[in-house]
Amino acid sequence: MIAVDAEKCVRCGACVRDCIVEVLKPGADGVPCVASGEERFCLNCQHCLAVCPQGAVVCNGVTPEECAGIGPLPGAAELFNLLRQRRSIRQYRPENLEPEIIDRLVESLAWIPTGCNDHRLFFTVIREQREMAFFRAEMSRQLNLLIRTGIMRLVYPGYKRYLEEIAGGKDMVFRNAPHMIVAATPRSAPCKEADPWIALSYFDLFAQTLGVGTCWCGFAVHAFRWNRRLRKRLNLPPGYRIGAVLLFGAPDVRYARATRPEQFGVSS
Ligand SMILES: Cc1cc2nc3c(=O)[nH]c(=O)nc-3n(C[C@H](O)[C@H](O)[C@H](O)COP(=O)(O)O)c2cc1C
Repeated sequence: MIAVDAEKCVRCGACVRDCIVEVLKPGADGVPCVASGEERFCLNCQHCLAVCPQGAVVCNGVTPEECAGIGPLPGAAELFNLLRQRRSIRQYRPENLEPEIIDRLVESLAWIPTGCNDHRLFFTVIREQREMAFFRAEMSRQLNLLIRTGIMRLVYPGYKRYLEEIAGGKDMVFRNAPHMIVAATPRSAPCKEADPWIALSYFDLFAQTLGVGTCWCGFAVHAFRWNRRLRKRLNLPPGYRIGAVLLFGAPDVRYARATRPEQFGVSS
């Protein structure tokens, strides 16, 4: 429900113009309101609440006073440094991050954009490095089975060079990371392919600012999809599908410089 305080409202129309689903319209007295029966189209994006200069809009019970004010943003130069200096971390200190750091990272996920503002994403966060032992052991068991049966050579020919290391117990998948976050979506989510990747991309960049190293784990996405034992440990709600997996923890490597990557194709 969207409630506009008629005393505070100056009838500027900012909330009406910014309503993506066009449910907010000026009422007879000029104060915006939602026509009856139209509320079910509201995406709860809260743009009306955020854009109102007067703080006159309460959106689905959320008041302007509960929302953060507008603060300073990082400059372009700092952000560009962040983009250039972020590296996939595959060497981690064997220790847990402070719980407060994980809390801040998880809290930040509330602000990620999702298709149609669908907030049914589900995140499994592995907060204790000892919990990673289960995933590591099960993955190793599965990979060794694939190696013994010859399936590994057929399905993942690129991994032929690593078979001995994997058989010897090297953690080629979870990279000895102390933590992991898995993003899953319901199959009915409008943008079920994009949402998990976007969510963890935001998490990834914010993590760098807190000194936390990260690594995408595409291999684990496949592993979770075909191994029920691995998947079960994620406690997903029924009907949910794994979308993206990111490893994280305190880095045990420092980079002396940024890379100079090969350019992508660009047409303009
Ligand atoms: C979709 C995706 C899946 C990835 N999967 C893995 C993975 O399973 N294991 C791994 O070590 N790195 C993985 N990576 C990391 C890439 O190898 C890495 O981003 C790339 O080599 C560039 O290095 P940089 O991230 O340090 O710039 C993945 C990256 C992406 C975007």
